[in-house]
Amino acid sequence: MAESRRTVPTIVAMKKAGEKIAVLTAYDWMTARLVDEAGVDMILVGDSAAMVVLGYENTLPVTLDAMILLTGAVARARTNALVIADMPFMSYQASVADAVRSAGRAMKEGLAQAVKFEGGRKIVPTVKAVIEAGIPVMGHIGLTPQSVHELGGYRVQGRDEEAGRLLLEDAVALADAGCFSIVLEGIPWHLGKEITESIRIPTIGIGAGPHCDGQVLVIHDIVSYTDVRPPKFVRRYGDARSVVRKAAEDFVRDVKDGAYPTLDESY
Ligand code: KIV
Repeated sequence: MAESRRTVPTIVAMKKAGEKIAVLTAYDWMTARLVDEAGVDMILVGDSAAMVVLGYENTLPVTLDAMILLTGAVARARTNALVIADMPFMSYQASVADAVRSAGRAMKEGLAQAVKFEGGRKIVPTVKAVIEAGIPVMGHIGLTPQSVHELGGYRVQGRDEEAGRLLLEDAVALADAGCFSIVLEGIPWHLGKEITESIRIPTIGIGAGPHCDGQVLVIHDIVSYTDVRPPKFVRRYGDARSVVRKAAEDFVRDVKDGAYPTLDESY
């Protein structure tokens, strides 16, 4: 239905209307179809693909080419949700020109409708240039996984007053630069609330408390597809790991026992 199609302006309008925004990650065509049908407002093709799809230890190794390939699969599946391509490590940090080219490829080759960058005030010139090129930008501050080595691990950010103030300044700077929404990851709930109340664009929380305008989670975490214990804020809504594993085990057993296939003389 045309009226339920999400666009950048309709996402921004959801905040004004007080309507919560539901976001999930997806990295392939079939999963994207399912989450789109389920009614998510945005699908993030996260660089978490590096870990949950490609088996790397962190998000740093995934390439722009890989992200474009995955984004294309998701974009071809979407009907209503807005598709955002996460810009991977070193696809935008070296120069503003790199960022514009990388974001342009995500839109042109990956068919994304927006891109996401990690970082606060430091990346404002990048954000402005990409928006100037006609590409909507989602910000991402707090626990920014591409900075895992700089942060010394996946730790909650903005715990003390000064760090919280700097994150609030980052959020305001990104909103002023023209971002249409900002992911707030791994920050205390009261800071998530303060930032959400301080800016006009939607905040999308992940481990940032219930007061954000929306929430995003990694699909593999909510369906329990991995054996890695997810962060404690994750709510599990399914047990895909058991379903897939049992089906595979049953198949192996049936093949070994000769129980599959049965003889079908019709062909
Ligand atoms: O890569 C990702 O999945 C993300 C979300 C967790 C926000 O950036």
